[in-house]
Amino acid sequence: LNPKRVFITGASSGIGLLTARALCEAGYLVWGTSRTPGKLPALEGFHPIALDLNDDESIDSGFASALREAGYIDVLINNAGSGTFGPLEAFSSNELRREFQTLLVGPMRLIRLALPSMRARNEGLIVNVSSLAGELPVPFLAAYSASKSALSALSEGLNLELSHTAIRVVDVRPGDIDTQFHPSTRRLDGGLSDGYAPNLEIAWRTVDHNMARAPGPRIVAAVIVSIVNGAIRRPTVAVGDFFQARVAPYLARRSARAWVQWGLRAYYGLKRGKA
Ligand SMILES: NC(=O)c1ccc[n+]([C@@H]2O[C@H](COP(=O)([O-])OP(=O)(O)OC[C@H]3O[C@@H](n4cnc5c(N)ncnc54)[C@H](OP(=O)(O)O)[C@@H]3O)[C@@H](O)[C@H]2O)c1
Repeated sequence: LNPKRVFITGASSGIGLLTARALCEAGYLVWGTSRTPGKLPALEGFHPIALDLNDDESIDSGFASALREAGYIDVLINNAGSGTFGPLEAFSSNELRREFQTLLVGPMRLIRLALPSMRARNEGLIVNVSSLAGELPVPFLAAYSASKSALSALSEGLNLELSHTAIRVVDVRPGDIDTQFHPSTRRLDGGLSDGYAPNLEIAWRTVDHNMARAPGPRIVAAVIVSIVNGAIRRPTVAVGDFFQARVAPYLARRSARAWVQWGLRAYYGLKRGKA
């Protein structure tokens, strides 16, 4: 009778699109965002919102217009994101700031906008779509991995901080998922492709190969719907193929970090140089 109101970023594609669709089908009211609202789906119960995580004013006005229409937001899902692949030294400070703005600072701004009304009602759920790359970093996606690691720490820290309330924070950590994420990953080499040969190309080919056989976004959408409807109540949830989401994190948590580095080098096929 009183459907929950959900705000989700990045509802135009991949994980966000399927999550928004599944939530609408389950009877939730969904405010979903894109930088290009024309790309958003026409669904019963779905409300399109323009929002660019790289623009504070756009974040504020996008969230404010959803709040105006909805009256209150029960669930905030920080899903939108993109990656930039390249050697860290090829990034300018502005490019690094942009990566962290999209993946960490923008989502934190949305959390700060959502919390006052959640606290006033002593009710709410924040779902942050982080990545297994935060636990098991991907070579040449080091800045992306670092920002996801920070987002995961933020989720857990904030969940503790909200202990005196009924508001929960859940960190969702997908492995490789076949969406527009990989095709839209920007490549940056700054003229350093020789300096990082052959590993730059080897790592890209491994990521390319893994993405081609990765599961689709439906499995992540199903997990997020289960978190929203209360069927999953854990503070962190890994999701993906069996090896990436189960075996690798299990082994990594029980191994010395030098062994984890050895395993990641082997997984990505990276060549070692001589000292
Ligand atoms: N696919 C994977 O292998 C994988 C693995 C682990 C974690 N993740 C995470 O899952 C989340 C969803 O990604 P996906 O795989 O579903 O990728 P996707 O298909 O490329 O969708 C990305 C979504 O994010 C939005 N977006 C991108 N940059 C944005 C920005 N600056 N401001 C606002 N919206 C922006 C896009 O919307 P518009 O372009 O329409 O604005 C789009 O709706 C991301 O946070 C990603 O890091 C993905």
